Amino acid sequence: MARKKIVAGNWKMNTVPAEGVELAKNVVAGRSEVCECVNFIVCPPFTHLSQVVEAVKGSDIAVGAQDCATEAKGAYTGEIAASMIAALGCKYVILGHSERRQYYGETSETLNKKMAQAYANNLIPIYCVGENLEEREAGNHFAVCKAQIEEVVFNLTEEQFANLVIAYEPVWAIGTGKTATAEQAQEIHAYIREVLRSKFGAAAEECPILYGGSCKPSNAAEIFAKEDVDGGLIGGAALVAGDFLAIGKGF
Ligand code: PGA
Repeated sequence: MARKKIVAGNWKMNTVPAEGVELAKNVVAGRSEVCECVNFIVCPPFTHLSQVVEAVKGSDIAVGAQDCATEAKGAYTGEIAASMIAALGCKYVILGHSERRQYYGETSETLNKKMAQAYANNLIPIYCVGENLEEREAGNHFAVCKAQIEEVVFNLTEEQFANLVIAYEPVWAIGTGKTATAEQAQEIHAYIREVLRSKFGAAAEECPILYGGSCKPSNAAEIFAKEDVDGGLIGGAALVAGDFLAIGKGF
């Protein structure tokens, strides 16, 4: 089974354009040290998507946005449409990140609309799921992830599902320095794949499921070695080109 191996960097609300371009250029410069089999994606803030697309031109590094609007266009002050992101040359869009769910009230209803916009514009969604600490401690992490998948991913067509990346990010591990153990990651990734299989059958074997949450060069190899972990969605460590690339060496 050769699933796509992916290391995606979520820069969040970090870097001004000049810093972002420099970071992207440094990733390009060091890229050849990592196996070609790894697909690198960088997701800068909206303000410099276009400059980062330019900076990675000629390399195999893809660019993604961190969010998109629920609507196609119109009177939605401050929003960025999926069509605008696609027009810049981006291939991916992160949707449903826990910070969006937590701080900006994103629900499955919102995310169904954003997913539709992403697909209508040929963007590949990196759809994030994951439980918070309370839910993990209560043993509800399986149920939480299942609901986040059922309420959104189950609405996709088979064709759309074939162009989906999932990221499992336990909220308690994001930016906290705490990482899920490789065993915890494998356990829930395998479970997520089983949920996907119940709806999409064998196509579930092809869907990349990334781990996110304090993933860094020192723990990537152990986590990526697990059967159902197909890479990482990296926050903090993606802001240092050398660390981001070193995570790719974890395969
Ligand atoms: P982190 O963030 O690597 O800084 O924990 C991961 C994420 O939120 O995507």
